[in-house]
Amino acid sequence: MTTTYSSMVDSKRGYLNRRIFVDRDIYQQELEQVFGRSWLYVGHESQTPKNNDFAASYMGEDPILLTRDSKGKVHAFLNMCRHRGNRICRADAGNAPSFMCTYHGWTFATDGKLVGVPGYKEAYFEELERSQWGLVEAPNIESFRGLVFANWDKQAPTLSDYLGDMAWYMDMIFSRRSGGTEVIGGVHRWVINANWKFAADNFAGDQYHTYLTHGSLRAVRNAKPQRYGEGGWTAHPGNGHGIVRFEDLASSSERNRTDQSNADITVKYRAFTFTEAEKRVGSLRAENASTSGVFTVFPNLSYHASPFVRVWLPRGPEKTEIWSYCIVDKDAPADVKEALRKKHTFVMGPGGAMDADDMNNWIQCTGAGRTLMGKRYPINQQLGVGHEGSHEQFPGIVQAHPSELNQRSFYGWWAQLMDAGSWNDIKLTPKTVA
Ligand code: FES
Ligand SMILES: [Fe+2]
Repeated sequence: MTTTYSSMVDSKRGYLNRRIFVDRDIYQQELEQVFGRSWLYVGHESQTPKNNDFAASYMGEDPILLTRDSKGKVHAFLNMCRHRGNRICRADAGNAPSFMCTYHGWTFATDGKLVGVPGYKEAYFEELERSQWGLVEAPNIESFRGLVFANWDKQAPTLSDYLGDMAWYMDMIFSRRSGGTEVIGGVHRWVINANWKFAADNFAGDQYHTYLTHGSLRAVRNAKPQRYGEGGWTAHPGNGHGIVRFEDLASSSERNRTDQSNADITVKYRAFTFTEAEKRVGSLRAENASTSGVFTVFPNLSYHASPFVRVWLPRGPEKTEIWSYCIVDKDAPADVKEALRKKHTFVMGPGGAMDADDMNNWIQCTGAGRTLMGKRYPINQQLGVGHEGSHEQFPGIVQAHPSELNQRSFYGWWAQLMDAGSWNDIKLTPKTVA
């Protein structure tokens, strides 16, 4: 009898087989079935504002070059020379009309066309079909509020259908101001010896760990300790995505509207822009776009209100490369952007106060699946099973904190993708809100 992934992931009762974090065959299939089919974040529009701008990125393990061609069209190309496979661009970002491979010199334009072949006349006798040997391009590329996603699978649903009601929650963060958002300050990059899913599920909805794992950070800041079940919510809008909001609405409202004379510059900024946000996304979402939201768009794009967007890039079953970008409102004043950039560096990143707390936990949890005895025992994700519900204002399945609703949903969706023959076998959760 063949083992199905759905049998390794019991998302109703909250059990998970640890093999899915360490098994090399499962990992290879994951690259095909999850990363080969899902919409993957490849960068932000603000990284390529001008024609012929480019920025490096990844889709799973595949290096990607995000370009804006000479006519302004955005592309996601495999950063791979069609001759032998060398990378055609080694730089992180820049502006160039073409990329010359450093091995034999094949040259590609920013629209992917092969425009230069050394010895084309003398050695190839003009017989090479240059039009057939352009860069490999992801067939689907779409943006949501400046965030650019690409997808290798021609059968994939549109980005809008894939995001479903997650888009409603994302608007809470990315549509607060009319100018939208931009990424600033380069990319933080580092590697950890953990499976990418531990990080992605943590950001999809692991409110439970913050009480203890990040307790020391709250103590350093003299913040009041969190109490289990106090404030906030967890929401699963469908299709594997998940979002959590940590603090209660009353304190957020208060912070947004009362005297801000002692608040730091970033909190004051949110208060001063509250009216604009309220007009754009309504008061419920304006109040919830606070300093404490976290989400994951399945599979590997996460957001944290520190503020960043980041991807968890698979580098083998027990290795993940992290690319993290500070993201701010484009219309924010320069001193607010600088304060947010510093905050992002202090709180997150390889030496940041919060990421450092998290990483070792994920490394240990991954390794537990490799040991003789450890792998015999399932992961427990039972927190809040049977207490999920709906909310009159928030779309999707919603639960008060803390809950493992979003972890169960994340792995349930993962298993569905892993078992499916194609997108035809996958049941999307339909969008219910505009
Ligand atoms: S590998 Fe690129 S030109 Fe040969
Ligand atoms: Fe954390």
